[in-house]
Amino acid sequence: MTIGEVAKRSGTATSALRFYEEQGLIHSERNDAGHRRYSRAVLRRVAFIVFAQRIGLSLDEIRAELAQLPRNRAPDRADWGKLTARWRERIAERIAELERLQATLTECIGCGCLSLDRCQLANPGDRAGRRGPGPRYWIRDRR
Ligand code: FES
Repeated sequence: MTIGEVAKRSGTATSALRFYEEQGLIHSERNDAGHRRYSRAVLRRVAFIVFAQRIGLSLDEIRAELAQLPRNRAPDRADWGKLTARWRERIAERIAELERLQATLTECIGCGCLSLDRCQLANPGDRAGRRGPGPRYWIRDRR
């Protein structure tokens, strides 16, 4: 596939595909004219990269995950299954984070803003800030 075909099918900009390739996340062959050519299997890799970024993995983490896949053939179901097993915990953590965010959208999250009327009771004088940076109640500290 050409880079344009991969971009169109994956919904990913050609600039992003070039970046992924520079980062060693995807690979192409060059044809006689020097143009990139990708196997169809790259589409699944790109989908994986985009999803991994959405759940907060860094490029280094994504690279480490993709390095587990065979390079000399298209990964099969078993190959992807090994990655998926390692991801379950990460995905569950992300789901729990999003559920906490959803549940606390209108509550005091202990971020130090003291901008809601509820902050007066839940986080008087930014007491939560003594426990460290960030939205303390959202990142699992109890009130
Ligand atoms: S919401 Fe920020 S301290 Fe309460």
